[in-house]
Amino acid sequence: MSYIEVQYPAEKAAFYKLLKEQAALYTGEESAQTAVLANAASVLAQAFPEANWVGFYLIEGEELVLGPFQGKPAVSRIGYGKGVCGTAWREDRSQVVEEVSCFAGHIACDCNTHSEIVIPLRRADGRMWGVLDMDSVLPGHFTEADRAGLEDIVPLLDRGEGENPVLRALHERKSVRTYTGEPVTGAEKEAILAAACAAPTAGNQQLYTILDITDQAVKDALAVSCDNQPFIAKASAVFVFCADCQKWYDAFRSGGCDPRLPGAGDLMLAVTDCAIAAQNAVTAAESLGLGSCYIGDIMERCEVHRELLHLPDYVFPAVMLVIGRPTRQQRERPKPRRCALEHIVHENAYRVMDGGELREMLACQAGERPYEEWLAAFCARKYQSDFSREMTRSVEAYLKAFGGER
Ligand code: SME
Repeated sequence: MSYIEVQYPAEKAAFYKLLKEQAALYTGEESAQTAVLANAASVLAQAFPEANWVGFYLIEGEELVLGPFQGKPAVSRIGYGKGVCGTAWREDRSQVVEEVSCFAGHIACDCNTHSEIVIPLRRADGRMWGVLDMDSVLPGHFTEADRAGLEDIVPLLDRGEGENPVLRALHERKSVRTYTGEPVTGAEKEAILAAACAAPTAGNQQLYTILDITDQAVKDALAVSCDNQPFIAKASAVFVFCADCQKWYDAFRSGGCDPRLPGAGDLMLAVTDCAIAAQNAVTAAESLGLGSCYIGDIMERCEVHRELLHLPDYVFPAVMLVIGRPTRQQRERPKPRRCALEHIVHENAYRVMDGGELREMLACQAGERPYEEWLAAFCARKYQSDFSREMTRSVEAYLKAFGGER
């Protein structure tokens, strides 16, 4: 690779758009953490000519330890809460320092430094693993716009070194709806399906049957019947996890057991089994570098799907999963934030949340938009929508078969 010099525009939005592209270009294909940080330090130094020091400190136990950097030799270890870097760690947030001589406890590495910015490096679950530190010879060089721009870029630099790979995969996984077109191999598909079948299952019954949709005409039909989503037809692997209350009922009958008819409880248990198996498939796909997306619309259009997929009465298509190779843009797309644990986890018993708490819980989803405006749009798009009403109608049609004891 040879570096091609770029001219950074002065306007901040354009500057950070180009900087993010450059950071991705010179680090995106690399998996080694040190190499990623080394090139990132270089890209940043090129973009900020007035910065006399650009580099990383990485958390090791109770200290920040010097990582790749550009500039003069620097202090190699910084204690928790010490200096600007240690303060960013203790306060768990970025620091923008206009004049370092006014920052109590600033650790001076270069007497020419006037201003400094320190940005936390975070894992996908929010935990800090180090900081980006930049010093400038200009007073007040770094602004809130730089903080926001750099906070947006640093997630690209995490390679999860030393992290629990299972937890990392669980935290990083996000829906992927755009694929490169390169097929999922037979071996990958088999690994994914085997992982699905290794999932926990009620009474070891595997209350599901997985339909592996290989016929392009069926994929095309599903792309239409599942709320017109063309990307479904373009996915390399399409699996329908059917809650299967038919096969055990048939086995009991053919074995002379005189079983009762399957009921709502049997269906719920089978749906849970489906979701558990499907999530194993998702995690397996993620571990293979594949992207996946759940399609809830498979529960819609009961009559169409029964005919298309030859579903008998006691089989309900609970979960559809589409899998393919993510495009680069998809790999780099940030994962939408989840709600804070305090709202999701209630101790011992359910706590009905008031309007204030619900607002607090959902604020992270609203983002920059006014909360009421975002909520109204979300309600119209997801809850009051035609597809949502159709889902309820269709599931009620499936439920008619599950009468239970008769
Ligand atoms: N100024 C930093 C120490 C590191 S040097 O700037 C490279 C601080 O106060 O944490």
